Amino acid sequence: MIDLDFLFNPGQIAIVGASKSPQKIGYAIVDNIVKSGYRGEIYPINPKEEEIAGHKAYPSVAEINKPVDLAVISVPVKHTIQVAEECGKAGVKGLIVITAGFKEVGREGLKLEQELISICRRYGMRMLGPNCVGIMDTHTPVNASFANGFPNKGNISLISQSGAMLVSILDWSFEMGMGFSRFISTGNKADLTEIDLIESCAADPNTDVILCYIEDITDGERFVEVCSEASKKKPIVILKSGISSAGAQAASSHTGALAGSNRAYEAAFRQSGVLRAETLNELFDLARAFSSQPLPDQSRVAVVTNAGGPGILATDAIEKYDLKMARFNKNTIDKLRGNLPQEANIYNPVDIIGDARDDRYRFALQTVLEDDNVDGAVVILCPAAVTEPEKTAHTIVELNKKYSDKPVMAVYIGGRVLAEGKNYLSENKVPSFTFPEPSISSLEGMVRYSGFIKEKEPVQPVELEDINRETVRKTIDQVLEDRRVVLLGHETSTVMSAYGIPVSKTYLATTEEEACEIGSKLGYPVALKISSPRIAHKTDVGGVAIGLHSDKEVKRAYRQIMDSVGYYLPDAPIYGIEVQDMVDEGVEVIVGMSRDVQFGPLVVFGLGGIYVNLLEDVSFRLASALDNYEEVKEMITETKAYTLLQGYRGKKAADIDALADSILRTARLVRDFDEITEMDINPVRVHTKGSTALDVKITIEEKEK
Ligand code: COA
Repeated sequence: MIDLDFLFNPGQIAIVGASKSPQKIGYAIVDNIVKSGYRGEIYPINPKEEEIAGHKAYPSVAEINKPVDLAVISVPVKHTIQVAEECGKAGVKGLIVITAGFKEVGREGLKLEQELISICRRYGMRMLGPNCVGIMDTHTPVNASFANGFPNKGNISLISQSGAMLVSILDWSFEMGMGFSRFISTGNKADLTEIDLIESCAADPNTDVILCYIEDITDGERFVEVCSEASKKKPIVILKSGISSAGAQAASSHTGALAGSNRAYEAAFRQSGVLRAETLNELFDLARAFSSQPLPDQSRVAVVTNAGGPGILATDAIEKYDLKMARFNKNTIDKLRGNLPQEANIYNPVDIIGDARDDRYRFALQTVLEDDNVDGAVVILCPAAVTEPEKTAHTIVELNKKYSDKPVMAVYIGGRVLAEGKNYLSENKVPSFTFPEPSISSLEGMVRYSGFIKEKEPVQPVELEDINRETVRKTIDQVLEDRRVVLLGHETSTVMSAYGIPVSKTYLATTEEEACEIGSKLGYPVALKISSPRIAHKTDVGGVAIGLHSDKEVKRAYRQIMDSVGYYLPDAPIYGIEVQDMVDEGVEVIVGMSRDVQFGPLVVFGLGGIYVNLLEDVSFRLASALDNYEEVKEMITETKAYTLLQGYRGKKAADIDALADSILRTARLVRDFDEITEMDINPVRVHTKGSTALDVKITIEEKEK
């Protein structure tokens, strides 16, 4: 891990471009550092000034002649290279480059940015930015940024790729009464990336929750590696923007069209235990929940409400988010029955009805929190004439502290008359919401995270000793030598067999006689398919014949296929005709892979056939996760196809173990061969015993060796 003490806990800060003019960024930075209560040395750098903000000014970093941990650079872009060089020579440990005008403006800017990087490398300096707002650490304290303010002290770190987003969130956080440990603006990420910063915040004792707003990830593999470790220590919640479906639309195979980068992000986040927020609201709801409430043990939620409608809304949301309505034990029910009015509902959701005052809330909430079948509670309050929102807020806070192993969310539905109560809840670290759904969605995030960090038996990767890499290597090299990118049927058959993936046997025949010979060897019936790199949709040009039972039928079909293809596509290069055995019946599923630019091979599984794109009954994993049967089986169970595989409506169950083995081997194949860019096995037929890959498309591209 990189030591980022120079950034978050610097002993000395030089501000290059410090200014006395209040409208300048160089003024704001000095002002922020001073006002934050920073206790280290401050060295304003400005050739024209003797003193800035009560600190002696120096004409250049070179003239400080004392150690400097951090230099914040805020001079026009044309001076930045020279300033960085000076910093390097003076032994500065690290830079924050505020200045804009680098990679984000085009080729010239990119060149300058590369120069900055090489200066940093040469002198062993690390750099945040360029084109960033800076950093804040409320515990050091230090505000080395030009943001308008300094956050309240707290336990949340925010890492933002957008400077504008960072300053807006800062301003909004005051209204929300939220406290932060760190605010970090990553800028162009020329050197330090969001991954380095996540790693550092994970090790920061003052941070309990890490929030990120990111537009892209610098290195997918390292992201998964670092976040998998970091999220075991504390929750990481990421809002990822800029997910385009353009790439997915351009893809040629089913898998490619289903995948898209969004799916890869989803799979990567899931694999690394990162929680994904879809909106800014969600990001902060989760931040509030994680930063103030204990993690629930399981997903059983109790609801206490003074109104029926919102209670039902909460129940609906609990079902929608796959949580459970807690089933109270007998003691709880007896107690509720004995003490609540007759009209009350004593089962979950507990409706303590509209005339409930604080005492009834106290009794009901305490009773459900005492129940072992309850992992967390949602308290809903609607403002009737007799309701006591403030007093009840005090009670909720008190009981939340008393039952400190169960999270409590407050839902105060209303505005004006509830404001004081809501404020008290926020100030005392009980998340309050205006409507039920976000409170439940936050609980769901907590339940998911709680499941992720629970000690699990370590799963050993499966060793595959019966794979033949050599054969695949030879086949791929041959195809590339032929200047082709799509493997022919008999080639895919060879590749699959080499990795122990059962595939319909396919051989290439170049004459009618050869086709008959192969047919007899395979055993009739067989299918014939045209073999040409130019023909993707073989049926459309009369290139397929199935269920052929004899030499005579094979010969006739061979001629018919050649005639038909010759008629439709006279110029297509024909390699011959593939002879394939006919495969037993079974449940048809799809297994595929597309290679994501950031995260590498992404494997898809789902219901197969021609409706695959329409139904989108699919699940995804990064191939790197699919090295054990547990993960593969979990992937299978996430789809409706799983219901079919188990034997739907009296049908016999399909061989899920055989399917899982094929998926595991496919994942290994695409991990072993970078050349494979896309793979589509549609369908894989899963029989009652065994499975067979029926139609396989493998696309490759040359890799530099
Ligand atoms: N060493 C020390 N001081 C220097 C210097 C150098 N090599 N070159 C200039 N200065 C001084 C200037 O004299 C000036 O001080 P003064 O006010 O006393 O005259 C101060 O540094 C700033 O220089 P100036 O030329 O006035 O620039 P500026 O303040 O107008 O703009 C930036 C500088 C960095 C703010 C501007 O170039 C920029 O990049 N703005 C965008 C920042 C941004 O948006 N970042 C990303 C956020 S997401």
